[in-house]
Amino acid sequence: MKADEAPEPKLKRNFVVAIDGPAGAGKSTIARHLARHFGLLNLETGAMYRAFALKALRLDVPLDDPAALQRLAAETEIKLEPGDEENRVLLDGEDVTGQIRNHTVTDAASRVSVFPPVRAAMVKRQQEIGAQGGVVMEGRDIGTVVFPNAEVKIFLDAAPEVRGMRRYDQLGQTGHPDAKPARPPEEVIRDLRARDERDRNRADSPLRPAPDAYLLDSTNLSLEEAVKTAENTVEAWLAKQGRDATNR
Ligand code: DC
Repeated sequence: MKADEAPEPKLKRNFVVAIDGPAGAGKSTIARHLARHFGLLNLETGAMYRAFALKALRLDVPLDDPAALQRLAAETEIKLEPGDEENRVLLDGEDVTGQIRNHTVTDAASRVSVFPPVRAAMVKRQQEIGAQGGVVMEGRDIGTVVFPNAEVKIFLDAAPEVRGMRRYDQLGQTGHPDAKPARPPEEVIRDLRARDERDRNRADSPLRPAPDAYLLDSTNLSLEEAVKTAENTVEAWLAKQGRDATNR
């Protein structure tokens, strides 16, 4: 090595952390924390499916018509801009961040995301965004399809009743139209189960853990404990990188 050449950095800091799991498992909270803690971008892929579903709803495109949805995907531009608290979602240039969390869009997102052409369009964009590394990406198929070579993969899960109650509590805090007491907890849990069912059983990229994912079940953990466990998983990977670099 020449004297003026910088040495190779020992730790690879542009790594990808893939976080997958069903609704209400705590993905967003954990992804946000990991991104902040390790200086990575936080990208929430569910928001892209939600924005696409919003467009389909607005234009009255049938949510079960693959050909129409494929045409729509071809003429739709969705951008995710990482922010401090959440991603800003731009649908054809319009900021729709505040319009994609209601019950109707949530249900529609799960319906349109079963179709391969819709997924292909979203996955392509996600891979482009994450190509430089340095991201925490959360969704359903990040460790299996979008970034099968992600350096760290975490699959988050929790019992449906626990996830449903967490979702119910969250809805209560946001003050949006689905907020309690308009929707009782049983209804929130029922919807969540229906969505799980669809996300886990679709033919293309079903929700399932990658074989090399760290399985983190937070049924009996507080969210803080789950966050700490996820942080330790990334720390362990970084420490291993450091050891490997030293031994090289
Ligand atoms: O993570 P979320 O609840 O915002 O996701 C909304 C829907 O989008 C979810 O029910 C299934 C779909 N989705 C997907 O199919 N693949 C992803 N990577 C992320 C979300």
